[in-house]
Order: sequence, then structure tokens, then C-alpha cells
Amino acid sequence: MDKFIDIQNAEMVFHTKKGTFHALRDINLDVRKGEFITLIGHSGCGKSTLLNLIAGLLQASAGALLCANREIAGPSPERAVVFQNHSLLPWLTCYENVYLAVERVFGRGESKARLRERTKEALALVGLGHAEQKRPHEISGGMKQRVGIARALSMEPKVLLMDEPFGALDALTRAHLQDELLKIVAKTQSTVVMVTHDVDEAVLLSDRIVMMTNGPAATIGDIVEVRLGRPRDRVALAHDPLYIEYRSAVLEFLYHRQAHPAMKDAA
Ligand SMILES: Nc1ncnc2c1ncn2[C@@H]1O[C@H](COP(=O)(O)OP(=O)(O)OP(=O)(O)O)[C@@H](O)[C@H]1O
Ligand SMILES: [Mg+2]
Repeated sequence: MDKFIDIQNAEMVFHTKKGTFHALRDINLDVRKGEFITLIGHSGCGKSTLLNLIAGLLQASAGALLCANREIAGPSPERAVVFQNHSLLPWLTCYENVYLAVERVFGRGESKARLRERTKEALALVGLGHAEQKRPHEISGGMKQRVGIARALSMEPKVLLMDEPFGALDALTRAHLQDELLKIVAKTQSTVVMVTHDVDEAVLLSDRIVMMTNGPAATIGDIVEVRLGRPRDRVALAHDPLYIEYRSAVLEFLYHRQAHPAMKDAA
């Protein structure tokens, strides 16, 4: 197996004014090249923390994290991140937001014409060629999120990391972007690690669903391997017995085996 991301015995302890907080313990995970992984678990279990460790935005307190056989020592364009709140620069157009990233990664070695071409290609990939001269306040939430994805993909990352990228969108826009993401990933063969709260999103998109236990000291509780063929069609899948089985397995984990502490109190 081609271990592209390799996480061995990772621990995350936060040191705060109120003391230490053991967020993650004993995280072991390998991700293959071209694999689509989702991280799912209740709020506060440590999904973003784990994603940020892979991004290099946080440093693990113990253990090892490798990407393409090199230690993850900090953020890098080889591991591009898409956040929930799209984080575009409001004073720049969609085109300029993407161009900035392209220039940072390829600016030293490539001509201006090639950088412009890369920017346009990335925007076209997410279907935003027509909106490149608009500024973030002039476009919808779904479009902003697509610019965020275009910006990430424009850097030709080895890994695409996404933290609830569709969390703030309405259900229809979300479904549309999930379908687009499936097509883009099929085309670019990207390796993806994505955080989600949404069970259907996890089953639809993933090769494997990594389910996390509740914190403190959260860890990987179980992994569901999703053996559904690709391309995947959400309408056809709704009646597919295998799809229903995977969905039930995740629900069973989240609501029986790892019921949220608040829900246990209420019971
Ligand atoms: N910088 C920090 N300092 C101290 N504690 C932190 C820090 N970042 C996260 N935590 C704690 O670590 C735990 C995991 O947080 P994290 O944001 O990773 O959860 P999450 O699974 O992404 O939650 P959500 O689904 O609500 O986004 C939480 O208890 C959180 O309070
Ligand atoms: Mg989070």
C-alpha cells in the first residue's frame, strides 16, 4: 500500500491558562494516494485538531506525521486547506484571490502568462469562469466556497484538506457542490481529507469514513470502508442496500456507541 499520509501514535495536548487539555490520543491512520477520507464525530471531539495537524497548522505533542515520506513540519502548499468560512480576501476579485495563491506557489519559476492560465483553469474547474471579476460580497455562499476550492486546487496540492467546507450552505447548494467535488476529484485524482458532520455526505464522498470517539482524549473509534463504485449518483444510491448499510453503520456509531455526552444527560 502506498502510504501517502502516515500518522503514527499522534497525541495532541493543548496548554492553556486553565491547565492542559488532552484533545487527541493514540491517533494512527494511513491515507493512500488518491484516497478520499472523511473524519466524522460529535462536536468538540477533535476533528479540526486532527485536520490542522495534517495541515501543519498545529504541531503534535507526541507521535509522527508524514506526508509523502517527509515529516509534516508546518503549513505547505502541498497540503492546501479549505475552511468552512471560505476566508477570501474581500477587497480582491475571485480571479485575484486565486491568482495570489498561484503566484505564491509557482511565481518564481513560471511566466505571468502561465500563472494567468493556471488561475483561469482553476476557476473553470469549479464552474466560475463567468464570475472571475466579481468580489466576494457580490457572490453567493456556495460560489465563495467554490472560489476557496479553486484556490486550493490551483496550488496543485498533494493533499486537499477540507474542514466542513459545505457546513454553512443550504441543502441544495451543498448537494450540488458535493456532486461537483466528486467530479473534480475524479479528474484531478486528488488525495482528500475532509471533516464533516453529515452522515450522507460522508458515505457519498468517501473511500473510508474515520469515526472519532468523544473527547477528551478522543481517538479513532472505528473506520467504515465504503465499497461503492464510482462515479456515484446520489439518487440511485438512496435505494442501494450497501449505501443504506454504510449509513446505518455510521449512525449506529454516532448515536449508540458514541452518543454525545449532552444526549446521554438528556436520556
Ligand atoms: N487552541 C486550543 N486550545 C485549547 N483547547 C483547544 C484548542 N483547540 C481546540 N481545543 C479543544 O480541543 C477539543 C477538540 O476541538 P476541535 O475544534 O478539534 O473539535 P471539532 O471536532 O472540530 O468540533 P466541531 O465539530 O465543533 O468543529 C475541544 O474540546 C476544544 O475545546
Ligand atoms: Mg471543527
